[in-house]
Amino acid sequence: MKILTIRKYPDLILRKKCDEVKEITPEIKELVLNMAETMVKGQGIGLAAPQVGESKRIIIVQFEKRPEIFINPEIIKKSSQSETGEEGCLSLPGLFLKIKRAKKIEVEALNLEGEKITVKTENLSARVFQHEIDHLNGILFIDRISFFQKLKIKRKLRLLS
Ligand code: CO
Repeated sequence: MKILTIRKYPDLILRKKCDEVKEITPEIKELVLNMAETMVKGQGIGLAAPQVGESKRIIIVQFEKRPEIFINPEIIKKSSQSETGEEGCLSLPGLFLKIKRAKKIEVEALNLEGEKITVKTENLSARVFQHEIDHLNGILFIDRISFFQKLKIKRKLRLLS
């Protein structure tokens, strides 16, 4: 396994909509193992493939204390109840923002064996899923704050870029 380079904001790959994984090839398996290693080393609790330069619909989520792999993940249910909590992102190091997310979600994905799985989750882990799935659509957590919040972090963002 090897540690991959994390793409940082404002790298344009972070803004692309990622492609669906059509087949779980040995290359994909290698990629996810390296992603898991990279996430653990970076002390992240989630990582999306575009963050390591691969525009593919793959995420790793720290789920039940282990890094779990989800391929082509899709949110199929969202609670109307939301929750605001602090988020960070390995692609925007040092930036922590309060973001509003659905409290509970249901996600459908494929596992590494290509089997369809459904996960029901809430609170922090639901937040991580939503943050990572956003990455697959080119959305960053700084897109989910208000205009005024964004003004406040403008200088910090400039320092990152
Ligand atoms: Co992120």
